[in-house]
Parts: sequence; structure tokens; C-alpha cells
Amino acid sequence: MTQDISIVILAAGNSTRMKSQVTKVLHPVGGIAMIEHVVQTAQSLKPKNITLVLGHQKDKIKAQLSSYKGLHFAHQKERKGTGHALQVGLKSIQSPAKKTLVLSGDVPLLSLATLKKLLNTFKKDKQKSVITLLSAKLKDPYGYGRILREGKKMTAIIEEKNATSIQKQILEINAGVYLFDHAWLFSNLKKIKANPIKKEYYLTDLVCIASSQNQTITSVLLKDEREILGANTRTELATLNQIFYQKKNYELLSSGVNIQSPSTTFIESSVKIGADSYLESGVQLKGTTQIGKEVYIETGSILNNCRVQDKVHIRAYSYLENCEVSSQAIIGPFARIRPGSTIQQGARIGNFVELKNTQIGKGSKANHLTYLGDCVVKENANIGAGTITCNYDGKQKYQTLIESNAFIGSDTQLIAPVKIGKGAYVAAGTTVTQNVPPKKLAISRVKQKNIDKKMK
Ligand code: UD1
Ligand code: MG
Repeated sequence: MTQDISIVILAAGNSTRMKSQVTKVLHPVGGIAMIEHVVQTAQSLKPKNITLVLGHQKDKIKAQLSSYKGLHFAHQKERKGTGHALQVGLKSIQSPAKKTLVLSGDVPLLSLATLKKLLNTFKKDKQKSVITLLSAKLKDPYGYGRILREGKKMTAIIEEKNATSIQKQILEINAGVYLFDHAWLFSNLKKIKANPIKKEYYLTDLVCIASSQNQTITSVLLKDEREILGANTRTELATLNQIFYQKKNYELLSSGVNIQSPSTTFIESSVKIGADSYLESGVQLKGTTQIGKEVYIETGSILNNCRVQDKVHIRAYSYLENCEVSSQAIIGPFARIRPGSTIQQGARIGNFVELKNTQIGKGSKANHLTYLGDCVVKENANIGAGTITCNYDGKQKYQTLIESNAFIGSDTQLIAPVKIGKGAYVAAGTTVTQNVPPKKLAISRVKQKNIDKKMK
């Protein structure tokens, strides 16, 4: 059900400290851009609308988010601070909800559970809050806005640059996540004055404004402060990734997946894995990969955008991308499965075998040192060691069709386009240039001569 919340995501800033051509929020955490994490969390709240305030590299960010439905974008032409950014965002909301949730584009690990706590605190209070914000107590609060209180009552947020040395000792910080009563926000946002030091409009000044009106301001103290970590530098980005991968692994472990070595296994954000699957150390699962139940993936294998059904066994150091593997197939070690390939039930692809845009039928085998490109192999065929499809003549690619129960002898070249009929047999060392009819034997070998060896 849609909730009565408008979400504004502030993401117009840049970070020069990344030393990158790519704007900060597009840097990946767990395989997707930081901003995508924030958008996904925002969407899972089912708000009335989501508006992103963009500036630096706005077109690149929009392009990255093109697959996410229902997002609105506002353009902050000049970076005049978080208060100004929120103003730009609010102006562009066509039908605002009663509550406005403000998130930062560069805080990707914030959880849905925490946002739900924020919403509950906002609702629960007898005297309705105009602001509920997220705070955390940090051992090292350097750089964050500090929360000033008189007794329990929050009175202001003071930024590091403006803080006195006593204020700098406050450990409770502002996490930059706020829930506002929309009507109150709308009429008070314009009261923020430019900060005399940075000449920016600080969104955080709203706390002082609310406090001076004696309005209720509430807060939620974060338990796991890793959730609000941002990344201004590559080192911080590496830390975020470390935390992300660790969390993902522990979520999977608790859902019934075995991970031999969580610290050396990297599973990206969108990957799904069924129960009782086993991942040995050094496995990387990327993109939209989906793994079924009881799948065994051996050490060093990398899968990117793959669908793998139940009980598949992927042996060590195999590399699979954009492909589908049906149940009980066995792949590798050292196999390379390239885009557009499908491997059907119980098929076997062995060591040093490369497939490109190739279908391997049920129960068929290509066990050693083979290249099959643009090839269809039907059921129960056997592809001998060293078989090569010659699918490219320098200009165009051509298809090879190998019908069911065909036997391709070792060291065969199949010059495409070519068809091998049902149950046909190709003798070892043959160069196949013509179609082989069903059940025929094709052989193109030069007859062997044994010549006397002349002694010197
Ligand atoms: C802000 C808070 C600080 C808090 C910290 C938490 C203010 C004044 N300070 O500081 O109290 O502890 O977040 O991380 O808000 N942005 C724009 N347009 C702008 C400026 C910023 O869209 O003109 C965006 C940034 O892209 C970023 C977010 O707003 O996503 C926060 O801005 P940032 O510059 O990172 O603020 P902090 O200095 O971290
Ligand atoms: Mg920041």
C-alpha cells in the first residue's frame, strides 16, 4: 500500500576527494551505484513520490537510474547547500504527501528497518513531531554535525566547521536523514539564512527554527552506526564495500546458504541463492545472477548475470557470463561460458572448454579443450577433445548444428555453416566442410603412410 510520504534524495553534490571522473553517487557498492541502493530502499517504503535533487553529472545519474520506475528529478543549478537543495526538491513535487523524508544519495547502507523506526517515532509521539531525525553516537564524530540538547530536548545542530572546541566533544551526530511534517517544512524552509562562514543554506538550521517555536523534535538513535557511513574517499568506499559484502554474506548464511569463507566471497546486491547451495572460497557472484538450491560452486569461479538451476556443480575457476545452466549440469574446472549460451539438464562442460552463443542439449558432453561458437548441440551428443567450430570467416559468423546422439571425434574442425545429422559419426582429425547426413561416418584424414627412416 502506498504510504503518505514524499521522499527527497539529495544528490547534487560532488566529491573531489574521490579523484574520479565519475561523480560520487555513481561509484559502486556491492556491484550497483551508491544512489541505486538509496533509490531501492526508498522504493521499498512505497512512498507517494520520490524526487532526486541532481546537479553534478545529472544526466549520467538519470541514465544509470533509467530502469527504476516513477522517479522525479529536480535540478539544483548551483550548489548552495542542503537547505537550498531541499527547497529545489520540494518545489518540484506536484502533489506532496503529509510527510517528507529526506535522504542523502551518498549514504547507501541505510536499512529499511531503520527508516521504519523513524516513521514509527514520528507517528507515535503524543505531541506530533515536526522533525524526527536519525542520530548516532560515534567514537570519532569528526566531520559530522553535532546534536545540541538542553536536557533531553534537541535545540540545534552545529556543523564541525562552526562548532566550538567544547561542542566538538559531543559524540551524538546528525546522520543526515530526516522526516518532516510537510506543511511545517514548507512554511519554514524559506526561513533558513545563508551560513556566514560557508555561504550555504544548511538544512540542519531547521532544528534550531523548530526549537525556537517550541515544536516537538524527536530522534532515533542508530544501533549500528555502519548504516550511515558515506564515502568521500576511495578508502571510505572500500570500507563501505567491505561492510556491504559481509552483511550480504551473513544474510545468505542465515537464509540457508553455505559460504566456506565469507571474507573472500563476494556476492553482489541483486544476486539470489537458494538454500543448501555451497560456495567455496573466492567465489564471486555478480549482476543479476540467480542460483537455485543445492548448487555447488567451487573455488575461484565467477558468475555474472547467470541463471543456474538446482543441483548444478560448477568446478573450480570457471567463468560464466549471461548464460543459463539447467539442473544437474556439471561445468569446469576452468570452463568459460560466454553470453547467449544455455546448458541443458545433466550436460557436462569440462576443462578448457569455451562456449559462445551455444546451446548444449540435455545430457550432451564437451569435456576437454573445445571451442563451440554459434552452435546448437542437441541431446546426448558427444563432442571429443579439441573440437573447434570455425564459425567466423573474417567477415561473418555462421552456425553449426549438431543433432542428437552425434559423435564428434577428437581434434575435429567444423567449418560453419554445417550440420551433423542425428547419430552421425565424425572421425578424429576430420575437417568437416559439408553436412554429414544422419548415421553416416565422415572422415577427411590423409591415409597414413609409414616411411622408412633413413639413417645418416
Ligand atoms: C550533512 C549535514 C551534517 C550531517 C551529515 C551526515 C548539513 C548542513 N549538514 O553534512 O549535519 O552530519 O550530512 O552525513 O546538511 N547536497 C546537495 N546540494 C548541495 C549540497 C549537498 O544536493 O548544495 C547533497 C549532497 O550531494 C549529499 C547531501 O546533500 O548527498 C549531503 O551533503 P554533504 O555535502 O555531504 O553534507 P555534509 O557535509 O556531509
Ligand atoms: Mg556527506
